[in-house]
Amino acid sequence: MLKSLFNHRLCVAVRTAAAAVLFFTASATASAQKFPGLGDTPQMGWSTWNKFQGNINEDIIKGIADAMVSSGLRDAGYTYINIDDCWHGERDADGFIQCDPERFPSGMKALADYVHSKGLKLGIYSDAGTETCAGEPGSLGHEYQDALQYARWGIDYLKYDWCNTEQNYVTQKCAYTLISEALHAAGRPIFLSMCEWGSSMPWKWAREVGNSWRTTPDIWCSFDSLRVFPTYTQYSVMDCIHANDSLRIYAGKGHWNDPDMLECGNGMTINEDRAHFSMWCMMASPLILGNDIRSMSDEVKAILTNAEAIAINQDTLGVQCLKFGEESGLYIYFKPLAGGDWALCFLNPTKNDVTYAINWQHFNLTDEEVSGMSTAFDKNTYTIYNVWTHKKEGKTSKADKVAKKIKVPSHDAVMYRLVCQNSK
Ligand code: GLA
Repeated sequence: MLKSLFNHRLCVAVRTAAAAVLFFTASATASAQKFPGLGDTPQMGWSTWNKFQGNINEDIIKGIADAMVSSGLRDAGYTYINIDDCWHGERDADGFIQCDPERFPSGMKALADYVHSKGLKLGIYSDAGTETCAGEPGSLGHEYQDALQYARWGIDYLKYDWCNTEQNYVTQKCAYTLISEALHAAGRPIFLSMCEWGSSMPWKWAREVGNSWRTTPDIWCSFDSLRVFPTYTQYSVMDCIHANDSLRIYAGKGHWNDPDMLECGNGMTINEDRAHFSMWCMMASPLILGNDIRSMSDEVKAILTNAEAIAINQDTLGVQCLKFGEESGLYIYFKPLAGGDWALCFLNPTKNDVTYAINWQHFNLTDEEVSGMSTAFDKNTYTIYNVWTHKKEGKTSKADKVAKKIKVPSHDAVMYRLVCQNSK
């Protein structure tokens, strides 16, 4: 009790002191306020980290911006180009952060102008601690100043990390509230992507603070193998899915569970890429690409630009899928959609192809936890639309006596949109 009172007082004191520093340059507010209209559906874009880590420069960013347009990704809905760790130079004499003059010789403002001229948005990365995870300057003690600098540069998105926070002496809640307040005070609508890997269960407190929060450690390019290092662990696609399963009640419009960025196109098989993308769509997860889109294969591009899959991710009801169960080795997920439709995904995590007989009546369910919607296959009829083959596969109907057989290849997914016929 005493400890938490102390922590609360410290949190308020730290935030007040930080606000006072820039009192004359930014109109500080008293509590976290999110900008309206950001993240109404899960954010879509691209980030430097999964493919390039720290090896980045402005030519890469410009090339990616060009490829976003020429590949059709922008028109498919991907808007943010996010510069992750390692863009930093030093702070100037007044404490304002600068970008690395060798990697970004034209400066961040010019880069933001370039990205904006393509109809895209620019994201940047910082950390709540003394240093970022890669050892660059963190924002601790400079929160209002950094927010102001990002706003001046024309930044649209901030990913805020949680490395090297030993000297913060405050909770994640306090530190993320502080940067949220600072962004609001700086006045430019900037999407806040929180990245503390689920360490303080942000889904329980961050709804009013950020637009998305990581629910997992870092992903790596593997379908189902955990990668364990002495001081940290990296998650596979399947690990991320497992960790996210139980958190669906916390996600919604403006505040999404983030099981980390996509690894599609980075070396998994095309089946695994399709399964990975299918599940990120089903989970209403942020779709932040992590491959080199300047040189991706047509097969990968077809996955990333699949309009029906993206529509399931971006559905305005904003509900993360529920897991119906595991049958014949398949994981079966349903996602309620606006207007009474459902998305349905059969994910095959096993090493063998699986043949499965669908009996629609078996899938009568009500989403008690979030949407309240019922599939009601005994009353409703749905057109069955296969998202990956782009073909209609008949209808569900009360009279269905014959089970519909599907084959789900190993490490792949079959995804349907069930279009409700009742009101159409
Ligand atoms: C952390 C984050 C990653 C990435 C790196 C950059 O590990 O979780 O997503 O931003 O830092 O150093």
